[in-house]
Amino acid sequence: MLGVRNLHKSFGSNEVLKGVDFTINDGEVVAVIGPSGSGKTTFLRCLSFLEKANSGEYIFDDLDKDITKITRKEIKALRMKMGFVFQNFNLFRNMTAIKNVTEGLTVVRKIPEDQARVKAETLLDKVGMLDHANYYPDELSGGQQQRAAIARALANDPEVVMFDEPTSALDPELIGEVLSVMTKLAEEGTTMIVVTHEMNFAADVADRIVFMENGRVVEEGPSEEVLKNPKEEATKRFLRRILEHDE
Ligand SMILES: Nc1ncnc2c1ncn2[C@@H]1O[C@H](COP(=O)(O)OP(=O)(O)O)[C@@H](O)[C@H]1O
Ligand SMILES: [Mg+2]
Repeated sequence: MLGVRNLHKSFGSNEVLKGVDFTINDGEVVAVIGPSGSGKTTFLRCLSFLEKANSGEYIFDDLDKDITKITRKEIKALRMKMGFVFQNFNLFRNMTAIKNVTEGLTVVRKIPEDQARVKAETLLDKVGMLDHANYYPDELSGGQQQRAAIARALANDPEVVMFDEPTSALDPELIGEVLSVMTKLAEEGTTMIVVTHEMNFAADVADRIVFMENGRVVEEGPSEEVLKNPKEEATKRFLRRILEHDE
């Protein structure tokens, strides 16, 4: 339902994405792994139009179009169908947790405040944050902030949710609570693209793993296959390094 073909992105003379092909089907969870600087963040940002790609074809449900020809109006509509969770939470600091969730609903979607609150409470409950609905980000732990950010990403009932290293900025003891919320979402059938270094999560929760290196998808396949029996030398090297690091 969401995909790109031959996606290219450069920053000046630095070609960061060198022809990426990618597809995710409804209900699928795909983990994107790869070394730092390989283009994972840029890839997610191009998929969600936070960054402008230089060329490629973009597919979303019935839309199949040159990515550079997608209109502002189409981008706006597409972005309503996506949720995005950032490494550093990116909550609005001057708003409570619940206000962070309702803001998009009331301001962008023009949903009445009371309806938006009902929706937000349901979502905060889902991520275990209902009892902290009226706390400001500074009064919350990183894990709590990230769970609130996940609730916010779900506010529009997105067709796909993208996570960019959602646990990388967290103290180790807070990682589990965020991963367990994500696991629950996955079990409910949420379509998710997750850039992560959490190999246990990738193994247990993701249907598929995409390994990126140097702006290209080097290898992809069912999670178990890629982790247990990687074909490419680059994948083997990366997994060896990251698994050593984990010990
Ligand atoms: N906004 C930007 N302007 C210039 N260069 C960027 C920008 N964002 C990313 N890059 C460059 O793109 C490359 C890939 O970065 P990134 O997508 O963040 O990789 P990853 O998420 O895999 O670590 C890096 O060389 C980085 O310096
Ligand atoms: Mg990144």
